[in-house]
Amino acid sequence: MAGSRDVTVEVTVNGAPHAIEVPARTLLVHFLRDRLRLTGTHVGCDTTQCGACTVAMDGVAVKSCTVLAAQASGHEITTIEGLAADDSGDGLHPIQRAFQEEHGLQCGYCTPGMVMAIRQLLADNPDPTEAEVRHGLNGNICRCTGYQNIVAAALAAAAHLREA
Ligand code: FES
Ligand code: FES
Repeated sequence: MAGSRDVTVEVTVNGAPHAIEVPARTLLVHFLRDRLRLTGTHVGCDTTQCGACTVAMDGVAVKSCTVLAAQASGHEITTIEGLAADDSGDGLHPIQRAFQEEHGLQCGYCTPGMVMAIRQLLADNPDPTEAEVRHGLNGNICRCTGYQNIVAAALAAAAHLREA
């Protein structure tokens, strides 16, 4: 395409190294979904509003529609698909298990981003109050408005992780 150039993105995703050439304007979320087929990371808005695209870059939650794939070069990305590697034997990360137990999803569109955001929230604050969970998730939107159970799942996940 006129005006675009390609860059080679060298990035480790869920522990696997990749070196892939993409147009320089490629967003990380599209790189993950379209080039690596990691479609658990969702696109809800593309404008940094909804949090559905949340992943971890070097362990810190970022909205991957806000990051160019080129900016991720040289870094480690963890997506929702990589989270179960932290599991305790049942194939689910404790946060995922808490969502299952607390019925923390309806359509599930927001869920990967919520889980990744909660992972960051609990890394920063392992024993949050309900108010702190609600504040911590204010960058993530659930179009099914299932916030009550999402908050319950976050609190249950915090308990699971403290017991682990
Ligand atoms: Fe990235 Fe909505 S798709 S914040
Ligand atoms: Fe449907 Fe949150 S469960 S968008």
